[in-house]
Amino acid sequence: MNIIEIITKKKNGYALTDEEIDYAFQNYLNEKIPDYQMSSLLMAICINGMNYDETTHLTDLFLRSGDTLDLSSIDAPKVDKHSTGGIGDKTTMIIGPIVASLGVVVPKMSGRGLGITGGTIDKLESIPGFRTNLKEDEFLSLLKKNGFAVTSQTSNLVPMDRKIYALRDVTGTTESLPLIASSILSKKIAGGADKILIDIKVGEGALVKTMSEAIKLSDIMKKIGEKYKKEVRTLLTPMDTPLGYAIGNRVEVLEAMAVLKGESKSPLTDLCVQLASHMVSMGKNLSYDVARDEVLAALEDGSAYQKFVDFVHDQGGDLDQVVLNSNKVDILAPCDGEIDSISALKMGELAISLGAGRLQKEDEIDPGTGIMLHHLVGEKVQKGDVLFTMYGKEEALLPFVDPNEYYTFK
Ligand code: URA
Repeated sequence: MNIIEIITKKKNGYALTDEEIDYAFQNYLNEKIPDYQMSSLLMAICINGMNYDETTHLTDLFLRSGDTLDLSSIDAPKVDKHSTGGIGDKTTMIIGPIVASLGVVVPKMSGRGLGITGGTIDKLESIPGFRTNLKEDEFLSLLKKNGFAVTSQTSNLVPMDRKIYALRDVTGTTESLPLIASSILSKKIAGGADKILIDIKVGEGALVKTMSEAIKLSDIMKKIGEKYKKEVRTLLTPMDTPLGYAIGNRVEVLEAMAVLKGESKSPLTDLCVQLASHMVSMGKNLSYDVARDEVLAALEDGSAYQKFVDFVHDQGGDLDQVVLNSNKVDILAPCDGEIDSISALKMGELAISLGAGRLQKEDEIDPGTGIMLHHLVGEKVQKGDVLFTMYGKEEALLPFVDPNEYYTFK
């Protein structure tokens, strides 16, 4: 067996055997296969897919590449949530505190940005001092204390996915359903939660572009969940327009705080209430409506915001230092009218070009860069109103932006 035969077999549209999958991925992890050959195999998988057996085998291999977390010492229901990623998706920072404030533990192992979509770890690390590389015993003790903690994938939890994920990010191979399914579920299963909620984002600003692909992904994930005896619930939610007002890292932390304080209402708030209600319903075996009432009460009485403050404090973050760069430019409405669309894809690309994401594995994110929208779809604006503000790297020249490439009006 050799890697070129395996790449060629997948390129020609054939299913790989368990042994071939093991050979390619194991040797990549052990650095016996270089990035360029794995990139080629990933591209062949991206184009020709993987069947259910290949996908479950890859999930299993990812899972077995490292340790799994044992959360059995935590005497409370444990529900994890994952989003397949979108532009401005800061839901974890909002939902985790809400759900934890209601007695359901949220053990979150999160990733960095992938493609044009941001990652929770990058967002949280934009809070000065915030530590995401928690050791297992600290993660467990923070979960026992706060009911919510976020850690990056440590080197011994699903190390194979971490390596593959970073390579997919920079090789145009993010949008493959079997790679998405195995990446997400291996991490969720290794993370030790009893139940898992997956928010599958669908649209031009998401990894999954069409409803039919989203349904396929949902089916694969539920089937993999059954194999591991974990309840997997999925929601299919739109991602054509950015989620909420902020796109970037610190800008998103600021928006998450505003939502938790009840100061910002947008489709983001509605989605967070929906996701949190599902998690509370799964964790406490309540009906969705009863769980929703609890979620709304936790937002209303400030307990969800307080949980966020405790969570950030206990992971070392200093919320007083969450400031944006001073190098900024306002983009103005070119005409009077009602906003018909805001392109999530274009906004994601713009945020990366400002310094909020990576084009290459080694790129450093500048946490104070990003975009803050001032108006959302459906709102009326007048010519000259500020549509959005771009925050660039200090000293950098901000790009020329034609608002008509980002917004349409009617
Ligand atoms: N999130 C992940 O963890 N992996 C993917 O492949 C996509 C989204």
